[in-house]
Amino acid sequence: MATIVGICGSLRSGSFNMMLLRAVAASAPQGTIEIASIRDIPLYDGDLEASAGIPEAVQRLKDAIAKADGLLIVTPEYNNSMPGVLKNTIDWLSRPPADIERVFRGRPVAIIGATPGQGGTRLSQAAWLPVIRTLGMLPCFESLIMISGAAKIFDASGAIVDEATRDRVRRFTEGFARFAAAHAPNGRT
Ligand code: FNR
Repeated sequence: MATIVGICGSLRSGSFNMMLLRAVAASAPQGTIEIASIRDIPLYDGDLEASAGIPEAVQRLKDAIAKADGLLIVTPEYNNSMPGVLKNTIDWLSRPPADIERVFRGRPVAIIGATPGQGGTRLSQAAWLPVIRTLGMLPCFESLIMISGAAKIFDASGAIVDEATRDRVRRFTEGFARFAAAHAPNGRT
Protein backbone atom coordinates (compact mmCIF):
# COMPACT_ATOMS: atom_id res chain seq x y z
CA MET A 1 0.00 0.00 0.00
CA ALA A 2 1.28 3.47 -0.88
CA THR A 3 1.79 6.17 1.73
CA ILE A 4 1.19 9.73 0.61
CA VAL A 5 1.60 13.03 2.46
CA GLY A 6 -1.08 15.56 1.49
CA ILE A 7 -0.69 19.29 2.04
CA CYS A 8 -3.29 21.97 1.43
CA GLY A 9 -2.41 25.56 0.54
CA SER A 10 -5.28 27.18 2.42
CA LEU A 11 -5.39 27.87 6.14
CA ARG A 12 -9.02 28.93 6.42
CA SER A 13 -11.44 26.69 8.28
CA GLY A 14 -13.96 26.49 5.42
CA SER A 15 -11.34 25.76 2.77
CA PHE A 16 -12.66 23.97 -0.32
CA ASN A 17 -9.15 22.69 -0.94
CA MET A 18 -9.00 21.10 2.51
CA MET A 19 -12.43 19.57 1.77
CA LEU A 20 -10.93 18.15 -1.41
CA LEU A 21 -7.88 16.80 0.42
CA ARG A 22 -10.11 15.17 3.05
CA ALA A 23 -12.28 13.67 0.29
CA VAL A 24 -9.19 12.19 -1.38
CA ALA A 25 -8.01 10.78 1.95
CA ALA A 26 -11.47 9.31 2.64
CA SER A 27 -11.54 7.63 -0.77
CA ALA A 28 -8.27 5.75 -0.08
CA PRO A 29 -7.66 2.83 2.27
CA GLN A 30 -7.09 3.97 5.86
CA GLY A 31 -3.50 5.11 6.40
CA THR A 32 -2.77 5.83 2.74
CA ILE A 33 -2.99 9.64 2.92
CA GLU A 34 -1.49 11.51 5.86
CA ILE A 35 -2.80 15.08 5.95
CA ALA A 36 -0.02 17.40 7.13
CA SER A 37 -0.74 20.97 8.19
CA ILE A 38 1.38 23.88 6.95
CA ARG A 39 0.02 26.24 9.62
CA ASP A 40 3.18 26.26 11.77
CA ILE A 41 5.60 26.89 8.91
CA PRO A 42 7.13 30.36 9.45
CA LEU A 43 7.84 32.83 6.66
CA TYR A 44 11.11 31.89 5.00
CA ASP A 45 13.88 34.10 6.34
CA GLY A 46 17.51 33.42 5.44
CA ASP A 47 18.66 35.11 8.65
CA LEU A 48 16.48 32.77 10.74
CA GLU A 49 17.86 29.79 8.83
CA ALA A 50 21.46 30.98 9.35
CA SER A 51 21.01 31.66 13.06
CA ALA A 52 18.61 28.92 14.17
CA GLY A 53 18.66 26.33 11.39
CA ILE A 54 15.60 24.58 10.02
CA PRO A 55 12.47 25.24 12.12
CA GLU A 56 10.99 22.19 13.84
CA ALA A 57 7.72 22.29 11.86
CA VAL A 58 9.70 22.34 8.61
CA GLN A 59 11.94 19.47 9.73
CA ARG A 60 8.91 17.39 10.74
CA LEU A 61 7.28 17.88 7.35
CA LYS A 62 10.52 17.16 5.48
CA ASP A 63 10.90 13.88 7.38
CA ALA A 64 7.27 12.91 6.75
CA ILE A 65 7.63 13.50 3.00
CA ALA A 66 10.98 11.69 2.87
CA LYS A 67 9.38 8.63 4.48
CA ALA A 68 6.33 8.66 2.19
CA ASP A 69 5.97 7.26 -1.31
CA GLY A 70 4.41 10.44 -2.69
CA LEU A 71 3.38 14.04 -2.10
CA LEU A 72 -0.07 15.40 -2.89
CA ILE A 73 -0.25 19.19 -3.31
CA VAL A 74 -3.78 20.59 -3.06
CA THR A 75 -3.56 24.13 -4.28
CA PRO A 76 -5.93 27.07 -4.32
CA GLU A 77 -5.41 29.67 -7.04
CA TYR A 78 -4.59 33.23 -6.07
CA ASN A 79 -4.22 35.88 -8.76
CA ASN A 80 -3.80 33.20 -11.41
CA SER A 81 -0.95 31.52 -9.57
CA MET A 82 -0.14 29.52 -6.43
CA PRO A 83 -0.83 30.90 -2.93
CA GLY A 84 2.17 32.37 -1.13
CA VAL A 85 1.70 30.26 2.01
CA LEU A 86 2.10 27.06 0.01
CA LYS A 87 5.05 28.29 -2.05
CA ASN A 88 6.66 29.47 1.20
CA THR A 89 6.23 25.96 2.60
CA ILE A 90 7.88 24.28 -0.39
CA ASP A 91 10.69 26.86 -0.28
CA TRP A 92 11.43 26.01 3.37
CA LEU A 93 11.20 22.28 2.59
CA SER A 94 13.90 22.74 -0.05
CA ARG A 95 16.41 23.97 2.55
CA PRO A 96 19.22 23.14 2.85
CA PRO A 97 19.70 22.26 -0.83
CA ALA A 98 21.67 19.14 0.16
CA ASP A 99 18.38 17.65 1.46
CA ILE A 100 16.50 18.10 -1.84
CA GLU A 101 17.74 14.67 -2.88
CA ARG A 102 16.25 12.99 0.20
CA VAL A 103 12.98 14.92 0.34
CA PHE A 104 12.02 15.56 -3.28
CA ARG A 105 14.21 13.93 -5.94
CA GLY A 106 12.30 11.30 -7.92
CA ARG A 107 9.37 11.42 -5.49
CA PRO A 108 5.93 11.01 -7.07
CA VAL A 109 3.82 14.16 -6.83
CA ALA A 110 0.31 15.11 -7.90
CA ILE A 111 -1.23 18.57 -8.00
CA ILE A 112 -4.97 19.12 -7.67
CA GLY A 113 -7.16 22.03 -6.63
CA ALA A 114 -10.58 23.59 -6.19
CA THR A 115 -12.01 27.06 -6.65
CA PRO A 116 -15.45 28.60 -6.29
CA GLY A 117 -14.62 30.34 -9.60
CA GLN A 118 -14.68 28.87 -13.09
CA GLY A 119 -11.03 28.19 -13.88
CA GLY A 120 -10.58 25.01 -11.81
CA THR A 121 -7.19 26.28 -10.47
CA ARG A 122 -5.63 25.38 -13.82
CA LEU A 123 -3.28 28.39 -13.80
CA SER A 124 -2.18 27.67 -10.25
CA GLN A 125 -1.60 24.00 -11.08
CA ALA A 126 0.42 25.03 -14.14
CA ALA A 127 2.43 27.46 -12.02
CA TRP A 128 3.59 24.56 -9.84
CA LEU A 129 5.16 22.71 -12.77
CA PRO A 130 8.49 24.62 -12.90
CA VAL A 131 8.76 24.24 -9.12
CA ILE A 132 8.39 20.46 -9.08
CA ARG A 133 10.69 20.21 -12.10
CA THR A 134 13.35 22.25 -10.28
CA LEU A 135 13.08 19.89 -7.31
CA GLY A 136 13.36 16.83 -9.58
CA MET A 137 10.01 15.37 -8.57
CA LEU A 138 8.12 12.80 -10.64
CA PRO A 139 4.72 14.22 -11.62
CA CYS A 140 1.72 11.94 -11.93
CA PHE A 141 -0.32 13.17 -14.88
CA GLU A 142 -2.71 10.21 -15.03
CA SER A 143 -5.81 12.26 -14.25
CA LEU A 144 -6.78 15.85 -13.56
CA ILE A 145 -8.73 17.22 -10.62
CA MET A 146 -9.62 20.85 -11.38
CA ILE A 147 -12.77 21.68 -9.46
CA SER A 148 -14.72 24.76 -10.54
CA GLY A 149 -17.84 26.07 -8.81
CA ALA A 150 -16.72 24.43 -5.57
CA ALA A 151 -19.60 25.87 -3.55
CA LYS A 152 -21.95 23.57 -5.48
CA ILE A 153 -19.64 20.55 -5.40
CA PHE A 154 -19.21 20.32 -1.60
CA ASP A 155 -21.87 20.56 1.09
CA ALA A 156 -21.37 22.41 4.37
CA SER A 157 -19.83 19.33 5.99
CA GLY A 158 -17.25 19.04 3.19
CA ALA A 159 -18.83 16.01 1.51
CA ILE A 160 -18.79 15.93 -2.30
CA VAL A 161 -22.41 16.14 -3.43
CA ASP A 162 -21.69 15.91 -7.15
CA GLU A 163 -21.53 12.25 -8.18
CA ALA A 164 -19.31 12.75 -11.24
CA THR A 165 -16.77 14.61 -9.11
CA ARG A 166 -16.92 11.90 -6.43
CA ASP A 167 -16.11 9.27 -9.10
CA ARG A 168 -13.32 11.37 -10.54
CA VAL A 169 -11.78 11.85 -7.10
CA ARG A 170 -11.97 8.11 -6.42
CA ARG A 171 -10.30 7.30 -9.75
CA PHE A 172 -7.64 9.94 -9.15
CA THR A 173 -6.84 8.58 -5.69
CA GLU A 174 -6.55 5.00 -6.95
CA GLY A 175 -4.37 6.07 -9.87
CA PHE A 176 -2.03 8.24 -7.81
CA ALA A 177 -1.68 5.64 -5.04
CA ARG A 178 -0.76 3.04 -7.66
CA PHE A 179 1.69 5.43 -9.34
CA ALA A 180 3.29 6.40 -6.00
CA ALA A 181 3.72 2.77 -4.95
CA ALA A 182 5.23 1.84 -8.31
CA HIS A 183 7.68 4.76 -8.44
CA ALA A 184 8.51 5.35 -4.79
CA PRO A 185 12.19 6.32 -4.47
CA ASN A 186 12.43 4.60 -1.07
CA GLY A 187 12.56 1.09 -2.48
CA ARG A 188 9.62 0.01 -0.31
CA THR A 189 7.45 -1.45 -3.07
C1 FNR B 1 -8.60 34.37 -4.93
N1 FNR B 1 -9.46 33.51 -5.62
C2 FNR B 1 -9.16 33.15 -6.91
N2 FNR B 1 -9.83 32.11 -7.53
C3 FNR B 1 -9.50 31.71 -8.78
O1 FNR B 1 -10.09 30.78 -9.32
N3 FNR B 1 -8.49 32.35 -9.48
C4 FNR B 1 -7.79 33.38 -8.92
O2 FNR B 1 -6.89 33.90 -9.56
C5 FNR B 1 -8.13 33.81 -7.61
N4 FNR B 1 -7.44 34.82 -6.99
C6 FNR B 1 -7.59 35.04 -5.63
C7 FNR B 1 -6.73 35.90 -4.98
C8 FNR B 1 -6.81 36.02 -3.60
C9 FNR B 1 -5.81 36.88 -2.88
C10 FNR B 1 -7.81 35.34 -2.88
C11 FNR B 1 -7.91 35.47 -1.37
C12 FNR B 1 -8.70 34.54 -3.54
C13 FNR B 1 -10.60 32.90 -4.94
C14 FNR B 1 -10.21 31.59 -4.30
O3 FNR B 1 -10.29 30.56 -5.26
C15 FNR B 1 -11.14 31.31 -3.13
O4 FNR B 1 -10.92 32.27 -2.13
C16 FNR B 1 -10.99 29.89 -2.64
O5 FNR B 1 -12.06 29.64 -1.77
C17 FNR B 1 -9.65 29.70 -1.94
O6 FNR B 1 -9.44 28.36 -1.62
P1 FNR B 1 -9.95 27.72 -0.25
O7 FNR B 1 -9.54 28.61 0.87
O8 FNR B 1 -11.45 27.61 -0.36
O9 FNR B 1 -9.30 26.38 -0.20
